[in-house]
Amino acid sequence: MKIGILISGRGSNMTALADAVVAGHIPGAEIVVVISDHEEAAGLARAAERGIMTLAIERRGRTRFEHDGEILSALRLHGVDLVCLAGYMRLLSTEFIEAYRNRILNIHPSLLPAFRGLDVQQQAIDHGVKISGCTVHFVNADLDAGPIILQRAVEVRDDDGAETLAARILEQEHRAYVEAVGRIASGRITITGRRTFFT
Ligand code: GRF
Repeated sequence: MKIGILISGRGSNMTALADAVVAGHIPGAEIVVVISDHEEAAGLARAAERGIMTLAIERRGRTRFEHDGEILSALRLHGVDLVCLAGYMRLLSTEFIEAYRNRILNIHPSLLPAFRGLDVQQQAIDHGVKISGCTVHFVNADLDAGPIILQRAVEVRDDDGAETLAARILEQEHRAYVEAVGRIASGRITITGRRTFFT
């Protein structure tokens, strides 16, 4: 299974996946390309250090359709079977989502469907929840709303700020993403409506 990862920033989930593949924790998987929507993304260097092909495909000066089309071409050129969004900060076009229907994953730092969108660790604190966490899900046309693959819970402490909570959730994100991609790579995930099953 050839994986392409899309990033916009530091890329810690990307490196967690890359390191898990090298360690043999995701049998049958290979990360063939890491693509960022801007060339300053710190994660690009972290991918290159690991010997992974990197590309920066800038959004500037392109429509979403054109930009996504260019990313799609690159993914196809590298024979990508599964797309992992890892801190990719742009919405995908419906054309992109259809082209990789049920083959795009995202990691989100809350227990969906609670707290969609941005700054969700602060949203969780402001709402007063006692448990938050992370969710790995398939990407569909609705923001942060595709079928859930797995979730990990994290306690929200009384003295948490967004940063401390984000740091503890991030540790669980790395584990959850590796486990979810492992489930997909083993071909044992089925989707029925909104539900996914690991057989
Ligand atoms: C993570 O918290 C992820 O859940 C969210 O964006 C952040 C990306 O972090 N979608 P990193 O770039 O993987 O370190």
